[in-house]
Amino acid sequence: MRAMKRIVILISGRGSNMEAILRAASAEKWPAQIVAVISNKSTAAGLATASSAGIAARVVEHVSYPDRAQFDQALSTVIDEYSPDLVILAGFLRILTSAFVAHYHGRMVNIHPSLLPSFPGLDTHQRALEAGVKFHGATVHFVTPELDHGPIIEQAIVPVLDTDTEDTLAARVLEQEHVIYPRAVRDFIEGRYALMEGRIVRHTA
Ligand code: GRF
Repeated sequence: MRAMKRIVILISGRGSNMEAILRAASAEKWPAQIVAVISNKSTAAGLATASSAGIAARVVEHVSYPDRAQFDQALSTVIDEYSPDLVILAGFLRILTSAFVAHYHGRMVNIHPSLLPSFPGLDTHQRALEAGVKFHGATVHFVTPELDHGPIIEQAIVPVLDTDTEDTLAARVLEQEHVIYPRAVRDFIEGRYALMEGRIVRHTA
């Protein structure tokens, strides 16, 4: 049997994507183990979810460090205690230094609530409504130094309705995030694709 892959998940808050990944990993018996969940905020609701699933829930608070570089250094020290094959950003609201990103090159993914390259950054649902787009969605991508710009692994599209508010649109997108993120992670774990020279290379069985 192949060795179990090791996953570390970084969160900052609610952690619903983390929960969707935990649920899929156990229901679908992935050849992977979520070995730690780390938050940069001690108040993140997702920490309790992780603990009650028996997963190490750690806090590395960015406010305890004088600058970004030292926070990232401390964070990667904790992450590396778990020797992850994959680092998952799931609502992790910190901009990362390029040294940190380089250290996890090809093994760190993020989900962003828009159809990248449209609407990188914050307030994506509000901006989608203001732009009047008819379709919106979510993107799973490898993390590269430029924020919300890495090679795209998966996307989900949802319609934007005339009656939408930021909340109704966010909820429609989130439902799809919970579908595509676990699927993208599972495919990575099973070796169905990898990042090679800045591009996604897919492997068929
Ligand atoms: C999600 O919309 C995700 O796309 C974005 O932040 C939100 C996190 O939600 N990066 P949750 O913490 O996974 O519930």
